[in-house]
Amino acid sequence: MDKEWIMNEIEQLSRFSETSRGVTRLAFSPEDYAAREYVTKLMLENGLTVRTDQAGNIIGRLEGSDHQAAVVATGSHLDTVPEGGKYDGVVGVIGGIAALKILQERGPLTHPLELIVFAGEESSRFGLATIGSRIMVGSIQAKALKKLKDQNGIGFSELLNQQGTDIEELAQAVRRADEFKAFVELHIEQGSSLEKNNKTIGIVEEIAAPARCKIVVEGVAAHTGNTPMAERHDALVSAAMIIIAINEIAQAQSARGIVGTVGALKVYPGVINVVPGLVEMMVDIRGTNHQSIIECIQEIKDAVSEIAERQNTGVAIEVLSSEHPVKLDKELINLFTGVCQQQGIRYQQMNSGAGHDSMNMAKITRAGLIAIPCRAGLSHNPNEYASSEDIQAGVTVLAEALYQLAK
Ligand code: HGY
Ligand code: MN
Ligand code: MN
Repeated sequence: MDKEWIMNEIEQLSRFSETSRGVTRLAFSPEDYAAREYVTKLMLENGLTVRTDQAGNIIGRLEGSDHQAAVVATGSHLDTVPEGGKYDGVVGVIGGIAALKILQERGPLTHPLELIVFAGEESSRFGLATIGSRIMVGSIQAKALKKLKDQNGIGFSELLNQQGTDIEELAQAVRRADEFKAFVELHIEQGSSLEKNNKTIGIVEEIAAPARCKIVVEGVAAHTGNTPMAERHDALVSAAMIIIAINEIAQAQSARGIVGTVGALKVYPGVINVVPGLVEMMVDIRGTNHQSIIECIQEIKDAVSEIAERQNTGVAIEVLSSEHPVKLDKELINLFTGVCQQQGIRYQQMNSGAGHDSMNMAKITRAGLIAIPCRAGLSHNPNEYASSEDIQAGVTVLAEALYQLAK
């Protein structure tokens, strides 16, 4: 395997960024389109035929000897969070091309192989994650997609129109379960468990599901100089209390694998001499125990109501998504375990707190996720880093697993 090629292409892709600090390649941004075009060229140069579906998912394909046989697929994403890292998603795309290069050298296989670059995996732009793979597996309807707007008020429908697609045509991107034999994703862990345990490969058993909420706090905008403290309805003070309450609720539930974050906050009008009249917050709650997520959301609702009452500020909470954790395919877990043992690669079975497109692919086919370490567990951070040795090990396990599935 060409280690230098992999690391060089990861570097090349990091250039498609709106910012110089980290990598910023938001879903359906000019940088995202440019990166997708670059990867399409790479796929063609490496023996794949390529098509792009109505959702913007790129599908690279290697035919097998049996054209009717179900597809063995791998894939990940290219879009990033703002000021993210070079490896999130990209390792699965470039590593996927490298794995398919290895398999072409090993000679024809029975099943066709596909490498899928899913559109819009990150929730950063529209507040909804894994849009492309949701569309591919048919788990989201046009009605829900029509509601999606980014922070600048640009609608998802509008973006599709710009790429010449009408939202009603998305139904054509939906694929049937019987088209696939299996889907395997290679991804950085985005946590520190592998590094702490000195393991090279994580074989993921379950992927935590995010529950996402939008909380709007309504106070009264007022003059900061002439409004006595006792007469204020300061939306930001109430919001601060809510943020602390969410953190305390998640801390209390952390033993059950819960994590809770208020990752985005907007203050209106957001100027120094006006008491904040309105605050919007985005909340991300995750866990692999759906019951504890539900309890968490209820405790947050109770805390929000109590604070609103005490502070005499209005609060509205909207649950944007509340999904179930996804168990991955046992046979694929055994297959990856056997490959690691055979190759003498240190591995562990684990869960993933980070969400991935494999969660959606698991709805229509056997899905598996192979994780590799990232330094200090850092991800969604400009200092995200995965070593060439670990990426190489991930590609080796991916290639062998795809070979076993497609031979
Ligand atoms: O948010 C996530 O879990 C992933 O980065 N899409
Ligand atoms: Mn990510
Ligand atoms: Mn990712």
